Parts: sequence; structure tokens; C-alpha cells
Amino acid sequence: MSQARNILVTSALPYTNGDIHLGHLLEHVLTDIWVRFQRLRGNRCIYVCADDTHGTATMLAAEQRGMSAEALIEQVRLEHVHDFKRFGISHDNYHSTHSEENRQHAESIYRRLEAGGYIFTRAVEQLYDPERELFLADRYVQGGCPNCGSEDQYGDNCDSCGATYDATDLKNPRSMISGAKPVLKSSEHYFFDLPQFTEMLKAWTTSGAVQPEVANKLAEWLNEGLKPWDISRDAPYFGFLIPGTQDKYFYVWMDAPIGYMASFQQYVDAHNDVTFDEFWNAGSSCELHHFIGKDIVNFHALFWPAVLQASGHRKPTRIHAHGFISVDGAKMSKSRGTFINASTYLEHLDPEYLRYYYATKIRPSIDDMDINLDDFVQRVNADLVGKVVNIASRCAGFITRLYDGELSPTIHDQALWDEFVNAADSIASLYESDEFGKAVREIMALADRANQYIADQAPWRLAKQDGTEAEVQQICSLGLNLFKVLVVYLAPILPATVRKACAFLNVEALTWEDAQRSLGVHRINAFEPLLTRIDPKDVAAMVEASRETEADGLEAALEQEGPELDDKQIGIEDFDKVDLRVARIVAAEHVDGADKLLRLTLDLGGEQRSVFAGIKAAYTPESLIGRHTVIVANLKPRKMKFGVSEGMVLAAGPGGEHIFLLSPDEGATPGMEVR
Ligand code: 2FM
Ligand code: ZN
Repeated sequence: MSQARNILVTSALPYTNGDIHLGHLLEHVLTDIWVRFQRLRGNRCIYVCADDTHGTATMLAAEQRGMSAEALIEQVRLEHVHDFKRFGISHDNYHSTHSEENRQHAESIYRRLEAGGYIFTRAVEQLYDPERELFLADRYVQGGCPNCGSEDQYGDNCDSCGATYDATDLKNPRSMISGAKPVLKSSEHYFFDLPQFTEMLKAWTTSGAVQPEVANKLAEWLNEGLKPWDISRDAPYFGFLIPGTQDKYFYVWMDAPIGYMASFQQYVDAHNDVTFDEFWNAGSSCELHHFIGKDIVNFHALFWPAVLQASGHRKPTRIHAHGFISVDGAKMSKSRGTFINASTYLEHLDPEYLRYYYATKIRPSIDDMDINLDDFVQRVNADLVGKVVNIASRCAGFITRLYDGELSPTIHDQALWDEFVNAADSIASLYESDEFGKAVREIMALADRANQYIADQAPWRLAKQDGTEAEVQQICSLGLNLFKVLVVYLAPILPATVRKACAFLNVEALTWEDAQRSLGVHRINAFEPLLTRIDPKDVAAMVEASRETEADGLEAALEQEGPELDDKQIGIEDFDKVDLRVARIVAAEHVDGADKLLRLTLDLGGEQRSVFAGIKAAYTPESLIGRHTVIVANLKPRKMKFGVSEGMVLAAGPGGEHIFLLSPDEGATPGMEVR
């Protein structure tokens, strides 16, 4: 085998302000499978993570609960660690961004940026809450949309008409924190001079460090021109003071990725066979892999490599970006019971099921992936129980009963054995490149072959005949040896099941190389069921337990909205006024000077419309052309800053990159009425 690699791996740091849910688990399972694969191959692979703790939200949440921010984040961190552990996530260290290690690294990096001439200050005018005496980020301001007048819109864009604007343009703005009318106030901000790194980033993002589809997205930003990055926030803020200032804090996204270093530092301080510098110094020959969601590629593939380079550190080897998950075709939803927390899942189901199901879905792409709960039950039961475990349970009984647990060293079907052994390289390269779905398909094809072999040989029939003793032993021994090879191949995905399988096979922890060796003369232990079938009732119970009841929902809505909830209801006659049509996107283009809008040309079956949509952060124009969507066709044309919008396309999601354009099923044609 080639020389062992030294690899440092991270998953994105979960925010401190929420429970671990299916979305976090996708990322951590994806990372963990890759990490376990590397370790199985004999590489030194260190996996660190931490909680992302800083920012106004933590400060406000702690106040609300009447506790210190420090106490709150430590409580949450322990819960996060506990959840991940139970899902078999093998972090080597799980720290916090609010730690001494992080403070030291953040300060030292900042000093190097400053010394390198990459920091400057500039006055920034922002809305300020005069009652609470703090500056308001866009999401803490609401008011009337400056474009359509719609009430209760957030400070960056309008949910109702899609217009984007500055918080300072809102009509009758109010602070979401105190309700006070914000005032404009200027303060000095610290900037990192990102544009100085444009050429470096153009080269780095096209060097294979990011997936091609991510590189394309980044190229758009790079070609539009990078802007200096505002890395400071004014007091009060929960975070680290910027060295040399009294009241300026690092913006949470400045010290969050430095949290990767901090967690690694804590690991290094507890182990004497590894140093910080060998992994992080410029020119390091160790590898650095970040696993992240597609919504934060700008932070990891633009700001972070620039900060690393500017501070004399190495850049990441590879950014592994993934898409979001949906459940049963829709965004995770509390009312449908599909916003499922790790701890709720664990009350009903074995974590190995989810690890396996995720693995079947994972590929190196930022496309979103759907968790279909019926398919989940079916796949796990058919593949893991019906195919893999079945091989062991069919063969083990004979070996235990007739041969006192002794395997035969004779390979009964050499060609079949060779087929299993020879699959190792191809499966390994699929794991290496995040193609876990393909790896699983290859492994299950092998499991089918093994089951077919056992069915063809029918040891149960043979055992009834005289003089077949040796052959029955050989057949069942080969079955169990094939099972062992599958166990090696599945080891990155199913740590707990593999542990049980090793106990049954009476073997020590496995390495990838073990797939090349049969057990020879060997005694196995009695077979215990390794994994049981999923009962769909348990899935239903989990969904029920995750469902926010209508009463809960109503209560929450009343808290937010006040008593006018009924006014928001409409009659069917109101809905009938809306003319929804299928439209085909025939052209899509950037709009000069607009940060969030794309101009779409839509075909409504003979008629063409020009519509502005605030979906630029989520879609490239090329990806939209030819796609069908739904348009509100009888919306009054609206004059926007960039032209007239003749209708509105429908999309789900809170905004920014989390926008999901609606599309009808295949077969719908332009102009069709939507009802
Ligand atoms: O998006 C998020 O959930 C962030 N908390 C991820 C931070 S990753 C890293 F940069 F710290
Ligand atoms: Zn509006």
C-alpha cells in the first residue's frame, strides 16, 4: 500500500442556537463515512468539529433564558456531542468557538492580516436600536416594503413582491428586539481587503479543490468583482474583541472557521504525536478537507482561503460541498412532523438505518436530496436485513450446529471469491470521491451474488444427503467469508453493526486489507441477529412525535402575529382571483446593478412575459433555461428599479440561497392553468 496520508477533516460547525437535526446529520454522516474509510485504509485521519457560538442571537437567547451566554453554549455543546456520539460520528475532538484556543488563533491571524496590509477601516451607516442600544442586522428589522407597501417585511427583501432593498429603505421600520423605531447611526468598521486575493482565488478555485459546479458559482462572484469583507461588529456583541479596540468584535463568520484550528489545537495539546504546524503551516504536506453545505461555499472557498493565505497558513486541500435534504419531497416541516431532531429519531429508530440510507443517496454533488420515508424503510429492510445479514444467518446455523463453529479453509468457488476480493479498488475509489451511493450499489450487487450462490448450492438440501459433509461446510464457510468481505466494505457506513459482525465472526477490528484474506482455519461464535427490520410503525411514531400540533402551531402563530390571525384567511372566491399558469423559462439573465434579481423571459404558451425574480443567490441563469415553473399571471405589472415585472414566479423558502423554485411534474405545458 502507498504511504499513509495525514488528513485533517472538519464538518461545518453547528450553530449553538438549535438542536441537531436530520440536516446536520447528513453532513456529519457524510464526513464520518469518509473519515472512517480513510482510517480503515491505514491513513492518519483526524476529525474535528465545534459549536459555532458567537453573535447577537446567542446574546439574546441567553438573556431570554436568564443565563450567561457561556453557560448556555456549554449546555448546548454537551447536547450536540451526545447526539453525534449516538449516531456513531467519530469526532476526535468537539470544541467551541468561544474558547481560549480560538481567541488566540483569531487574534494571531488578525495581527498577521493587519501587518500584511490587508485590514482597513471605514465608516458604515446602519440602523440602530436606540432603546436596546445596539446595531440591528437586517433580520432584526421589519417594516413596510418600499416597493409594494406590504407590511412586516424583513430588512433585506420583500417576501410578497420579491423586491430587494436596504434596511434603511423600509417604511416605518421597527426593531424586532425592542419594537423601537431604529435610527441611522454611523460607526467605524474593520474590513479585510478580499479583492487583493482575486487572482489567487481564481487559480485555487479552478485547481480541483472544489467541485466543478461549485467552481462555476464561484467564478460568477469572482468575475463580478469581490468586495472588501466587513469583519467587525459593534458592542454589545457576544464574541472576541478585535485586538487594539475597546468595542469592536470579530464578526461571527470571521472566527467560525478559525474554530477548526482551535478544535485541532485542543486535540494537539492532548496528544503528543502531532503538531499544529505540520498541519497548518504554508507548504504543509498534510491534507485539509472541509465538508460543508452549499449555502456556505462563499465563506469556505473565498474568504477562508484568502484569510489563510494572508496569515501565512496552508489552504484547504478540498472543499466537499453537499446539497440540502428534503423529506418526502418537501422542506423539513414542523407541522408535517418532518423536522426531525436527532434525539427524537433515536427514541424510535436505530441510527445505523439512517447512516445507511444517507449513504445510498450521497454523491459528490450540491443537488438537494430527498429522504423518502417509505423508501427508507424499504431500502434498509431489503438491503441490510434481506441481503447482507441474510447471508450470515443462512450459513451460521450449519457451521455452528454441524461443525462446532469451525470454518473450512477451502475456497469452494474461487471465481466468486476473486470477484469479491477484486472489487476492493473500485469500491475504495468510490468512497474516496464521495460516491457513496455508487459504492453501496456495488456492495449490494455483491450481496446479491452471494445470496444467489447460497440459493444455487442449497446447503439445506445437500445436508440431508450422505457424504456431503465436507461440501456443506465449504459452501457455508465461503458464504461467511463473502459476508466478511461485505462487512469490510460496509465498515465506514455501519460502525455498530460491523462491531457486532466482528464479534460473531470472532475477528478483531478490521482494516481494508482484510477484504483480501479469507478466514482460513477459524472458529466463529454463535450468530446473534445483527440488525432487525424497520417496523414502519416506528417511523410513523417518530413523525408523530416530531409534529408540532395544530394547537402548538396556533399558539406560536398567535405569539408572533397577535390576534388578527383570522384576517389572514381567505375564501375560495379570493383564491379564485389568482390566475396561476405553467410557464417555461426561455431566457434568464443577470440584471446590471441588482444583487439578488434575475430577469426571466417566460413562455406562457404563445405569450411571452418578462419577470424579475429574487432567486439569483440560488440559481445560475443557465440552470433555469428550459425549466417549467408556475407564474401568477394576473398580477398587475410592477415598475421596479430595473424595469417592469409582468407577473411573479412561485418559489418556496426563506430567501437568499434557500429558494426553491416550484416546478410542475413532467407533462405540464406552458399556459396550463394551475389549480
Ligand atoms: O452555517 C452554519 O451552520 C455555520 N454555523 C457554519 C460554520 S462553519 C465554519 F466556518 F465555522
Ligand atoms: Zn414588496
